[in-house]
Amino acid sequence: TTTDVAIIGAGPAGMLLSHLLAAQGVESVVIEARSEAYVASRIRAGVLEHSTVDLLRSVGLADRLEAEGEEHRGIHLQWPGERHHIDFVDLTGRSVWVYGQTELQKDLIAARAAAGQRIHYEASDVTPHDPRTASPSVTFTDSDGRAHRVRARAVAGCDGSFGPSRAAIPAEVVNTWERVHPYSWLGVLADVAPSTDELIYAWHPDGFAMHSMRSATVSRLYLQVPNGTSVDEWSDDRIWEALADRLGHGQDGWTLTPGPITDKGVLPMRSHVRTPMRDGRLFLAGDAAHIVPPTGAKGLNLAVADVGLLAPALVDLVRRGDERLADAYSDTALRRVWRCTHFSWWMTTMLHTGEDPFDARLQLSQLRWVTTSEAGATGLAENYAGLPIGF
Ligand code: FAD
Ligand code: DHB
Repeated sequence: TTTDVAIIGAGPAGMLLSHLLAAQGVESVVIEARSEAYVASRIRAGVLEHSTVDLLRSVGLADRLEAEGEEHRGIHLQWPGERHHIDFVDLTGRSVWVYGQTELQKDLIAARAAAGQRIHYEASDVTPHDPRTASPSVTFTDSDGRAHRVRARAVAGCDGSFGPSRAAIPAEVVNTWERVHPYSWLGVLADVAPSTDELIYAWHPDGFAMHSMRSATVSRLYLQVPNGTSVDEWSDDRIWEALADRLGHGQDGWTLTPGPITDKGVLPMRSHVRTPMRDGRLFLAGDAAHIVPPTGAKGLNLAVADVGLLAPALVDLVRRGDERLADAYSDTALRRVWRCTHFSWWMTTMLHTGEDPFDARLQLSQLRWVTTSEAGATGLAENYAGLPIGF
């Protein structure tokens, strides 16, 4: 097969990229290791920042988001005895939307299916070739065992942190930066109406807790747990008790309503950046190039911002042979990547508790400043609601 752009990975980065390219008349073929059903049901992120929603709207992908998603003005930040609301709209004029990654993924799949996009699911041995030539390709084996080669003008590596694209950039040109945090999140999905109007991020001596949501009837909650924790150690009752304690059940009349837990998982917390995000005609976007810890809800938004930059660069490259945006892509994308890496690290280290009592005092002082100073609150709001595309 021959196409303009071979896209590895049908997650949000890969599917949105194929949509943005098609809007400019550039063809692509998407190659994905998993099944469509698996990709559409992975429970992950839940918050879309302002620029993400603007981009989705501009390409006709926001109808269901606007009908079924929920616009939030800000978040609640709290520690024992105090809860403060930070209003992003008042502070920056920008809001965020609560809309599950699963829903966005379904919208992307529906939009690409309607356009007749070629997507190969359940591909194995996916390998990019010859990125440093003008005719790179991707080979893979389909679910019937047949071998394929997709020849393209460029390859987009949107295959997440375990995919083959990142490994295809030669070690001698790669730089990596990493911070592994000494704690993980236990995340649960529950069939119960959220006990809060907007998300609650809670500092607590027992560990961080967060109350998020997916809809009027589905809550999403997280607890800080030690690395190496297994979900078997956490019965539903133990989870609801810890959430009630850490989120402040009973304080100022606030109550947490428990309900049936439908999904439980543990996720590690790390920051990882790999540069450059391009080698010749191979371009990395999203988790393939960087991982942030989830505090601050940046992972999905950063993947969207990457492809928002990559799409016009690939259009110029493929349609006009103009390489200027392609040459600038890695450096331009990394400005936002590092901003979000810093913000996610900052939110993470401000809210997760450890053994050191000095750290705890600093955290509480920082939380008080962020929630009571307009300058402090605006810094958080600007980063959380998201910097403009192209920052
Ligand atoms: P992905 O969504 O990972 O998509 C990559 C795609 O490539 C996948 O479909 C994968 O199957 C495919 N792939 C992998 N290997 C191959 C291969 N060899 N060949 C072909 N295809 C391949 N972010 C938040 O903001 N908040 C959260 O609460 C949050 N929770 C998360 C929970 C988990 C368990 C994980 C893993 C991530 C979470 N994230 C969260 C991060 C967020 O979901 C990601 O940043 C986002 O999915 C990035 O999109 P992507 O398209 O770059 O990568
Ligand atoms: C969610 C995840 C996050 O990491 C976050 O900061 C906010 C919300 C969520 O899954 O809903």
